[in-house]
Amino acid sequence: MNLLITGGAGFIGSNFVRFLLQREAQARIINLDALTYAGSMENLIDLPDPARHIFVHGDICDRPLVDRLLVEFEIDAVVHFAAETHVDRSILGPDQFIHTNIMGTYTLLEAARSFWSQNKRPDSFRFYHISTDEVFGSLAPDEPPFTETTKYAPKNPYAASKASGDHLVRAYGSTYGLPYLLTNCANNYGPRQFPEKLIPLTLLNAFEGKPLPVYGDGQQVRDWLFVDDHCNAIWKVIQKGKPGETYNIGGGCQPTNLEIVRTLCEILDEMVPDSPYAPHQQLVRFVPDRPGHDRRYAMDTRKILNDLNWQPQESLRSGLQKTARWYYSNKDWVNAIHKQQDYKSWLEKNYDQRSQINEREIAE
Ligand code: NAD
Ligand code: TYD
Repeated sequence: MNLLITGGAGFIGSNFVRFLLQREAQARIINLDALTYAGSMENLIDLPDPARHIFVHGDICDRPLVDRLLVEFEIDAVVHFAAETHVDRSILGPDQFIHTNIMGTYTLLEAARSFWSQNKRPDSFRFYHISTDEVFGSLAPDEPPFTETTKYAPKNPYAASKASGDHLVRAYGSTYGLPYLLTNCANNYGPRQFPEKLIPLTLLNAFEGKPLPVYGDGQQVRDWLFVDDHCNAIWKVIQKGKPGETYNIGGGCQPTNLEIVRTLCEILDEMVPDSPYAPHQQLVRFVPDRPGHDRRYAMDTRKILNDLNWQPQESLRSGLQKTARWYYSNKDWVNAIHKQQDYKSWLEKNYDQRSQINEREIAE
């Protein structure tokens, strides 16, 4: 099987490349990635069986390049991860989100449609679009979790750009018959996640004794999934998913952000008992909230359990322990990011103007 994986140098994509090379001896991977700030060749070091992995540095908006890769490598499935993914960046600068998440998805769809319609095996071809639960917007405390039929209600530019991509994919299915698969997944965490996201940012700041920023009152809820569980689900969907179907993927575990940060602090207290910053909870700081911050996400994953027999294996505590250990013992990876000018500028841009707020202000 020849797979064109887009965004395979990013967090989930690189974990999936690793997972697939290990798991499936017949898979050959063509990995198309633009290597934005979030993607890196460091994520692709020490791959199992690297001869079956071909890296192509390029943009998904480059139609001639995508056309050439589809034909040259006789692609059986496109697995589309490439995206701009950070909500806070989308609030401060939505442009690149429109370019990659909408125009990029459109370019891939057009190239796939043209290739697939001329392909000799049109029934087996798949266009697999990886999406997010953020397209559904925010749940009230008493609302049931998102299902595959929940109405889209994105509330920030990232979520809206992903929702647009999802709509285009479904439109190509119903209009042209393109055999697509689509999954909406909850928040992932695990090794190689860029430290702009809550969990790796908390870990890296805690290692250095820096403040651990919690937006607003920290009572927002996300549905957390360990990245290996997501990779497993994706592989099941590729193998057994029905074309034209959507599946929700989630971790079935929904702590508040504050609980996540406190759990990470406890894990670090145990893992690095002689740390000068222990107890790490002293580093927690409440800072002004993200505008339009979605309050609660939760996923109903009964469909993927019933249809494809998938459910998450990792518990939150053990997944967070594995993640903390990975970041602690991969100093070269961490240092490479600390040296990135873009990362330093991002931290200044997003956090410097967010002064600390105290507990009384939060209660008000
Ligand atoms: P990431 O930000 O870590 O990586 C994105 C990758 O895409 C990077 O390697 C980057 O270089 C590449 N890329 C960006 N623009 C590109 C372009 N124009 N052309 C080619 N490559 C480009 O992202 P992630 O967290 O691994 O997310 C992967 C996918 O999963 C995204 O589509 C995201 O919406 C979705 N998703 C993520 C989560 C999560 O919690 N991280 C949850 C649900 C869904
Ligand atoms: P994040 O990891 O950015 O993922 P997403 O916004 O896609 O859910 O954020 C997870 C949650 O953590 C979200 O509710 C925002 C919150 N958060 C903080 O409280 N502080 C931070 O510094 C960051 C980056 C996020």
